[in-house]
Amino acid sequence: MSSTTLGVSFVLVLLAAVAAAAPRKTLPSYVKTCSSSDPKLNECALKHGREIIPRIMKGDPSIRLPVLEPMILDKAEIRTAGGANGGGLHLTCYKCNVHGLSKAKLNDIKIDLKKKHLDLKVFLPSLSVTGKYDVNGRLLLFPVYGKGQANLTLNDLDVTAGLDWKLVKRKGGEFAHVASEQVDFTTSKFSLSLTGLFNGDKALNDNMNAILNESWREVLNDLKPSISDTVGQIIRFTLNNIFDVIPYDQFFPDK
Ligand SMILES: *[C@@H]1O[C@H](CO)[C@@H](O)[C@H](O)[C@H]1NC(C)=O
Ligand SMILES: *[C@@H]1O[C@H](CO)[C@@H](O)[C@H](O)[C@H]1NC(C)=O
Repeated sequence: MSSTTLGVSFVLVLLAAVAAAAPRKTLPSYVKTCSSSDPKLNECALKHGREIIPRIMKGDPSIRLPVLEPMILDKAEIRTAGGANGGGLHLTCYKCNVHGLSKAKLNDIKIDLKKKHLDLKVFLPSLSVTGKYDVNGRLLLFPVYGKGQANLTLNDLDVTAGLDWKLVKRKGGEFAHVASEQVDFTTSKFSLSLTGLFNGDKALNDNMNAILNESWREVLNDLKPSISDTVGQIIRFTLNNIFDVIPYDQFFPDK
């Protein structure tokens, strides 16, 4: 059973609202930067990266950073293409709460300033996305449709992310802009439970949840490229929101 990702569209209305707040042009003092000429740039970034995680969970409107625990996604979509057997799934969640980012452990960071590339490894003991959803399409060949409450949970989540940025000259200086990203992850357990499937037919709904529970590896396999895309887009939107207002040389001063 193969499936490829067609793409995922994703809207962060919340970030747009945050963006309206008057942005500062300098980093807040709790952000410790690393010198671009530091021979141990990766070590410096890892240390400061770890220090900053607990500081940023409540968000910071002055740098257009949304609240991260819980992070609220106004609307997020997962789309799979379906394989030769047809299918494809379109799942949208509305005002979803993402819980678990505050427990993130930064395991590795590698920065290549010349190539404008960053690699990250992050571990999350548990990450849950809960909220209202609607779904339509096929999952493991089973037709599935309905709307209600969803809970998608990932345990022991190891995320690797690669980010490429470019520099954009604008009034006010030079700004970084994340142009592309690659995200992959492994997890010890994926669970997805849905209420309200099949126009409220409880027997069919229970049956689907049992399938989701028993065949979670296959389900995850189908959804993984799309979930990775969505995670990558969230990272990109969030970073660009900040990069748009703070000149690049503030992040890596050549002190
Ligand atoms: C979501 O599911 C996980 C794992 O089953 C559970 O620990 C968590 O409490 C659930 N969250 C909500 C909001 O129901
Ligand atoms: C999920 O499956 C496991 C075994 O694979 C079983 O022990 C557990 O009771 C199931 N949970 C639900 C909610 O069906």
